Amino acid sequence: MLQKITVIGAGNVGATCAQRAAEKELADVVLVDVVEGLPQGKGLDLCEAAPVEKHDAGILGTNDYAATKDSDIIIVTAGIARKPGMSRDDLIKTNAGIVQTVVKAAAKLSPQAVIIIVSNPLDAMCHVALKASGFPPERVIGMAGVLDSARFRFFISEALDVSVESTHAFVLGGHGDTMVPLPRFSTVAGIPITELLPADKIKALCDRTANGGAEIVGLLKTGSAFYAPASSAVEMAAAILKDKNKVLPCAVYLQGQYGYNDLYIGVPVKLGQGGVKQIIEIKLTPEEKSLLDNSANAVKGLVKTLADLGY
Ligand SMILES: NC(=O)c1ccc[n+]([C@@H]2O[C@H](COP(=O)([O-])OP(=O)(O)OC[C@H]3O[C@@H](n4cnc5c(N)ncnc54)[C@H](O)[C@@H]3O)[C@@H](O)[C@H]2O)c1
Repeated sequence: MLQKITVIGAGNVGATCAQRAAEKELADVVLVDVVEGLPQGKGLDLCEAAPVEKHDAGILGTNDYAATKDSDIIIVTAGIARKPGMSRDDLIKTNAGIVQTVVKAAAKLSPQAVIIIVSNPLDAMCHVALKASGFPPERVIGMAGVLDSARFRFFISEALDVSVESTHAFVLGGHGDTMVPLPRFSTVAGIPITELLPADKIKALCDRTANGGAEIVGLLKTGSAFYAPASSAVEMAAAILKDKNKVLPCAVYLQGQYGYNDLYIGVPVKLGQGGVKQIIEIKLTPEEKSLLDNSANAVKGLVKTLADLGY
């Protein structure tokens, strides 16, 4: 392959990202983890699937960052995942240290890369990565909105018994219980769902979307979602590597947009070569803006916690 994706963290999300990226022949993949043998074992297993899956992407598992040199994309999934009863925010102390360490190590070997953060609490970890990398904000992006929107799309498709392919959805805000699904921008073949479903049903779908991660944590009991998160991170990587200019909701560093300053939060952006090409501002109703303010305040609280912890 001509391009290289480094995936840091060879756990559930990381290994699935490596699998999805390789099977799409997006790039060669370097899978890094701190646990000896884990990335090597998963990397080799994925290579041995290649003849059957019919792809020629290289997958290298390693504990050594040297192999990540000159990556085009760095996907950060290292850290701990939540268990039942935990919120994403409970992970902040442990994951801030891990994200800082891995981003520093990877960024200096791939100074032109675009970093996609997956580790939770997502928006706060983007702040840590921005500082640790020294990269410009357009090259440090968080994955949350693509996943939250995919969940919303699936629930819409189920409710209306239509193909997931006919659905579009937008979820804004921080990646937490305060996220803001936007029904009037969520459509089936261009028709807003507000025209297709009663208000109480839409509210139930929005609530299920906001609790989508917790629903899966509750079912799995030993970890959190990983298939859809990996698909979402790889969709972002593909948009960047193929310079698609795809409009996707991503956590990005706002400097005045939507009325927020120096804050990572999920909004629609244009993704292509070099990362975020444009932050798209949509006019929100006063009610939507107040929900987004609430979500932004939750992220601001986490940023304050980071500052108190010395990050
Ligand atoms: N943004 C999202 O929407 C989203 C969705 C799902 C999961 N997540 C988050 O992604 C993270 C990973 O989830 P998972 O299910 O893959 O967890 P996991 O426990 O399966 O994998 C995490 C991996 O990180 C590795 N790791 C820990 N410290 C490391 C270090 N210093 N260097 C390299 N690797 C290190 C661990 O050894 C482990 O293999 C969690 O923080 C989780 O909350 C975010």
